[in-house]
Amino acid sequence: MTNTRQESRQIAPHGSQLVNRYAAEEDVEALRERAASLPAVTLGARELSDAHMVAQGVFSPLDGFMTSADCRVVVDGMHLASGAAWPLPVTLGVNQAQADSLVEGQLALQDTKGMLVGVMELRETFGYDKQHEADRVYRTTEEAHPGVAGLYAQGDVLLGGPVTMLPGIPPLDPAALPHYRTPAEVRSAIDRMGWRRVVGFQTRNPVHRAHEYIQKCALEMVDGLLLHPLVGETKSDDIPADVRMRCYEVLLEHYYPADRVLLSVFPAFMRYAGPREAIFHVLARKNYGCTHFIVGRDHAGVGSYYGTYDAQHIFDEFAPDELGITPLFFENTFYSVRNQGMASTKTFNSPPEDRIFLSGTQVRDMLVRGELPPPEFTRPEVAQVLMEAYRK
Ligand code: ADX
Repeated sequence: MTNTRQESRQIAPHGSQLVNRYAAEEDVEALRERAASLPAVTLGARELSDAHMVAQGVFSPLDGFMTSADCRVVVDGMHLASGAAWPLPVTLGVNQAQADSLVEGQLALQDTKGMLVGVMELRETFGYDKQHEADRVYRTTEEAHPGVAGLYAQGDVLLGGPVTMLPGIPPLDPAALPHYRTPAEVRSAIDRMGWRRVVGFQTRNPVHRAHEYIQKCALEMVDGLLLHPLVGETKSDDIPADVRMRCYEVLLEHYYPADRVLLSVFPAFMRYAGPREAIFHVLARKNYGCTHFIVGRDHAGVGSYYGTYDAQHIFDEFAPDELGITPLFFENTFYSVRNQGMASTKTFNSPPEDRIFLSGTQVRDMLVRGELPPPEFTRPEVAQVLMEAYRK
């Protein structure tokens, strides 16, 4: 891996090495045999997704679920105990009774159907303060926040230690599968495209004109765009991944040159941690080989928990070389009637009534009424995909 990077002169992964915690093919049999006699812990959907993210290096330099030394500094200071920047806890929670039955050593990891997915070297079991974590990480202790609700639902005791996963693909929507690539595979694809400077774009919503505009503004400055929709679990009123994937596919077919865009998927769960999640997204995309990353308005936000540009301001809390990837910040953008094109308040003096921009709820309401969103908001081909999805 290191050699490939040096030959291609790609950006270094976070912590310098791309972590690989998948068992080698020749070790799989022995791992299965060993696991049969180990105590087993069941990974919920998010923990299973996280374990795969760790195994394939998306979360480099993490090699497993965090121990207390990492977890506490991450929650309070957005760094790992090693000093590397890291904004979000990646933890495995169990209930007290289960924790009491475990001793340090190896554990079998299984999914909710009881299938073996890997093993973990249990280094530590420890308690944590959920309210404190919610307050620090999500900036709220309200259970109405979906990330906080997930935290409160997590087991009261955390298990920390490195994982070794059986080779495999994280659970994914079938529509995302054709676009699934590990960080190592994205890095190879970037090499094949001959790109040196690559901008990553995170998204969990159907692509609209403002997304396209900021992607293209960024693409003007670099060689290639990694269009990287998040396809792990999102909250139930977000548009499902298969519909979003079809939107991206039609958009790329009609409006982007094929040799400048790589559509691939980001299989992580959405945390809705706003500013902290922006840092998480930026580091993960560095691991995929991005040199730049787009952060627009209310990145990874939910409701009104975060200020419009909080996810940009948080970058000031890190020294410039700590993150190692360049964020590209964008103001709120919209279609301006007077400008006859896309703009932001930074580039055009547009009064609010001149702007065509619809909220997710407004778009959903239009679709339910059988109305197509206007071309100033969504490309017609994308609007058609959305309409078909709502007619089902
Ligand atoms: S997110 O949860 O993944 O951030 P979304 O898919 O809506 O949600 O946004 C993807 C990216 O585009 C984020 O960086 C977000 O800040 C940015 N973005 C979305 N809409 C706009 C807009 N109108 N103006 C500027 N940036 C935007």
